[in-house]
Amino acid sequence: MPRFVSVAADPGLLALPWHTPLAEWPQEHLVALPRGISRHVVRFIRLGGHVYALKESAERYVVRENRLLRDLERLDVPAVEAVGIVLDRTTAQGEPIDPILLTRHLSFSLPYRAVFSRTLRPDTVVRLVDALAALLVRLHLAGFFWGDCSLSNTLFRRDAGAFAAYLVDAETGDLHDELSPGQRSYDLDLAHTNIFGELLDLQAGGFLAEEAELLELADTVVDRYQKLWAELTEPEEFDTGEMYRLEQRINRLNDLGFDVAELDIHTDFDGRHIRIQPKVVDAGHHSRRLLRLTGLDVEENQARRLLNDLDAFRAATEQQNEDEEIVAHQWLTDVFEPVVRAVPADLRGKLEPAEMFHEVLEHRWYLSENAGREVPLVEAARSYVDDVLRTRPDERERLPSAEDLSALSELEP
Ligand SMILES: Nc1ncnc2c1ncn2[C@@H]1O[C@H](COP(=O)(O)OP(=O)(O)OP(=O)(O)O)[C@@H](O)[C@H]1O
Ligand SMILES: [Mg+2]
Repeated sequence: MPRFVSVAADPGLLALPWHTPLAEWPQEHLVALPRGISRHVVRFIRLGGHVYALKESAERYVVRENRLLRDLERLDVPAVEAVGIVLDRTTAQGEPIDPILLTRHLSFSLPYRAVFSRTLRPDTVVRLVDALAALLVRLHLAGFFWGDCSLSNTLFRRDAGAFAAYLVDAETGDLHDELSPGQRSYDLDLAHTNIFGELLDLQAGGFLAEEAELLELADTVVDRYQKLWAELTEPEEFDTGEMYRLEQRINRLNDLGFDVAELDIHTDFDGRHIRIQPKVVDAGHHSRRLLRLTGLDVEENQARRLLNDLDAFRAATEQQNEDEEIVAHQWLTDVFEPVVRAVPADLRGKLEPAEMFHEVLEHRWYLSENAGREVPLVEAARSYVDDVLRTRPDERERLPSAEDLSALSELEP
């Protein structure tokens, strides 16, 4: 009998055909969603309103990956969520079959090749690579060595014109108290090599313009990683007369989306020089603030965008002196929710509400530019739904188009 090791088992899971190798599961159980290149058999199933990803692999790998994904959840690093593992599988004839790791399908996520379902502009690639560099920095801050950082081992969610990256494949990872500079640079080198290879594949498949400078694009990961790492961790020295630089550093970290939980401050003997160094930084500066004010749980750049709109609302309604929570509640009911409600139910799977709101704001900007007047938000929302949203693919549990599918199979190794 198969053995389940799981956090919150859906009883429906027990009834799945565990005695059959995953590659041979009948269609009725499966959901066709795009996925990245993988050595192992990976399939998606829908059960009780949730979609799960199943990966069949050797016992030592699934046990390890399950544990590492749990660790990452505890450390609050963006990664897919482990649900459990299924061990001791055998066929009806008693032949052993590899165990399965179950993770929750990350909704509204896109494997990078789905982002590339049309030929992409290099600046979109830069945004993907940027997001991946930020993820690698967060993993390294948490002491996690990835061992196989690549675009295929990452999932992307839209984040107000940028992307937010999630780790999907932790099998090669390792958790330490702290990583040495050598471990970090090894991981970063590997990311660079992998990304360069993946971009070559994409170019060969016609998904990236011929003239795109692939090595330069791959170099962005190193560049962005090093800049972000330095800003988040490096010491800074100045005179006691320049104390504003302490505040500047904290503001820069906040702008990058981090809160400083612990800062080392040293003064030298004569008391004229000061040395500061961030010791503990927590990602999610804007998303935490938005969550506290409105209960909306969104990606970091989306939160930044929404908070800006909230500030604009506060100024426009002359409530600068009003309690922040009260204004936030008004903004939520008078501004945000009417826009979300302007979207018919059957179109809501296309984008997350916060991403939709961001796009409506962009759309209003264009409309207002063209009309030479300030177009009201709800009017902009209606025009957005009819002219933009209807033509977009569904991304919650994104069903691939025929075009995507042929693109995916062409690139299969
Ligand atoms: N929870 C999930 N949500 C969404 N997609 C997922 C999830 N788990 C896996 N996938 C998809 O399946 C693909 C393959 O998964 P994964 O990278 O873990 O397999 P693998 O065989 O270990 O890969 P590798 O060849 O790198 O060892 C991913 O790129 C991703 O597109
Ligand atoms: Mg993988």
